[in-house]
Amino acid sequence: MRKAVIAGNWKMHMTCAEARAYAESFVPQMADLPDDRVVVLAPPFTAIAALSEALAGSDIKLSSQNVHWDNGGAYTGSISADMLKEHGVSYAIVGHSEPRKYHSESDEQINRRALSAQAADLIPIVCVGETDIQRSSRETERVIRRQVEQSLEDLDPSRMVVAYEPIWAIGTGKTCDAAEANRICGLIRSWVGYQDVVIQYGGSVKADNIDQLMAQSDIDGVLVGGASLDPISFARIAQYRVPVTI
Ligand code: PGA
Repeated sequence: MRKAVIAGNWKMHMTCAEARAYAESFVPQMADLPDDRVVVLAPPFTAIAALSEALAGSDIKLSSQNVHWDNGGAYTGSISADMLKEHGVSYAIVGHSEPRKYHSESDEQINRRALSAQAADLIPIVCVGETDIQRSSRETERVIRRQVEQSLEDLDPSRMVVAYEPIWAIGTGKTCDAAEANRICGLIRSWVGYQDVVIQYGGSVKADNIDQLMAQSDIDGVLVGGASLDPISFARIAQYRVPVTI
C-alpha cells in the first residue's frame, strides 16, 4: 500500500523564530496521526536548522525547497544534498513551477537535481504541471508527459514523489476539480510505469477540499503552499479523513 505524503511548502516565508513558534503549535497536533501517512515540512533554507531542532522527537519529516546537482563547488547561492542531510532533511522539492519560471530551470536540470537527491538518499518531490494557456489549448497531457519523461529519467520510482501541480491552480484559490486531478495523476502513474509511485496533487489545497482530494484513487498526498503557513489549517489537512468504503 502506498503511504500518503502530506507536504507543506513554506516558500519564502518564516524566520527561525516564526518556525519555532509554528512547531510549538503544530507538533502536539500531530501526536495521534494515523500511520498511513507521512507529514513533511519544507521551510526556507535559513530555517531548516531551527526547525530540525524544534521537530526533534516527532515523526514530522523535513524537506528542502530545492537542491543542487553537484556535491560542492563554485555555485553561488546553492545548497548541496550533504549540507541538507547534516540537518536531518529527508526530502527535496525539485522542479517547482516557481524556480522553473523565475530561474528558467529546465527539465534536464531538474532531472540532475533529482538524481543527486536520490544518490544522497534524499527523496525528491518532483513537480510537474501545465499553465492555463497549455490547458486551454488542450496541451496538458503532452506537456506533462514530456516533463515526466525528461525530469524523471533514470530515477528510482520507489524512492521519489511526483507532485502534479497545475500552475493555474497554485496560489490562485482555483483548485483543480478532484476527478480531473485524479485523471492526470493516473496518467502520470502509467507514464512512470511503476504502480506504487507516490503521486501528490498541489494547487490551492485547503482544509475544506483535502478530504475530497484524498478520497481519489490516484492521489497519494498533497503539496500545500499557502494553507501550510497556518499550523491549525495544515494540521487539519494532515489529519484528512477519507470515507470508509465497504
Ligand atoms: P498553494 O501552493 O497551495 O498556495 O496553491 C502550492 C505549491 O506551490 O506547491
